[in-house]
Amino acid sequence: MAIARKAMSRVWPGFPQQRMDSYRNWLDESCVDFDQLLERSDPDGWRQARAYAEQLKASAAGRLEAMSVTLGGAAHVALLHYLVLRLRPETVVETGVAAGFSSQAILQAMSINGYGHLYSSDLPYMRLNDPDQYVGLLVESAVRDRWTLLKDGDRANLPKLLSGLERVDLFSYDSDKTVQGRNFAMSLIEPLMHPGAICVIDDINDNPFFLDYVSSSHRVLGKTAAVLRHEGKYIGLLGELDRIVDFA
Ligand SMILES: C[S@@+](CC[C@H](N)C(=O)[O-])C[C@H]1O[C@@H](n2cnc3c(N)ncnc32)[C@H](O)[C@@H]1O
Repeated sequence: MAIARKAMSRVWPGFPQQRMDSYRNWLDESCVDFDQLLERSDPDGWRQARAYAEQLKASAAGRLEAMSVTLGGAAHVALLHYLVLRLRPETVVETGVAAGFSSQAILQAMSINGYGHLYSSDLPYMRLNDPDQYVGLLVESAVRDRWTLLKDGDRANLPKLLSGLERVDLFSYDSDKTVQGRNFAMSLIEPLMHPGAICVIDDINDNPFFLDYVSSSHRVLGKTAAVLRHEGKYIGLLGELDRIVDFA
């Protein structure tokens, strides 16, 4: 069922061009240089996180190349690593694991903190032979004790992963990029997000989900929502962001 839904989303015609054009203009206009804001508010912490991300990508590159499989691109690894080090979350939930750049970055930061647990949801790539073996392959065994991973797709995984949780401190969404997939996940996560929780949504340029979400939840750009650009794509942030950076 999850695989059929994923295939359908690929052929769905999507949004009218005019709506996408105006949405992309909104992204361009709303986008802030978050790296610079982090550099200003916490230069040492942000440099440490960036250095870790570079090291992780460099060590993964050869390994992935040798396997000759193409897995999903990495999330904003430095940002996730930084957020875990800075906010010391008890409970982190992520969707979209693939090779596991984000999972490793989060778990490594938890290991440094000596605190926290990561709940991850994935759906292995159906185009690969025996795809299960690739999910989270970059996650080192030394940090796996803080990790719960389910691989049956968000619709099955999220209700299970969230059922025992009282709150979520950090949520990273990097799986099903459709509006329906995002709405589904947010409807489950929202009741668990306390005011200080942060949400990171990857690839928001795919469709206008993020703008609709920001408007309907009365969030304010530069306060409880932000758009940032990373490696040619856009990422949406939700939460009380002045806990992390000073927009002024
Ligand atoms: C861009 S990759 C994730 C990259 C990962 N965050 C990282 O930093 O390495 C997207 C992943 O989401 C998975 N995915 C796609 N649709 C999904 C769904 N409905 N439920 C769960 N995972 C899904 C893909 O199979 C893939 O493994």
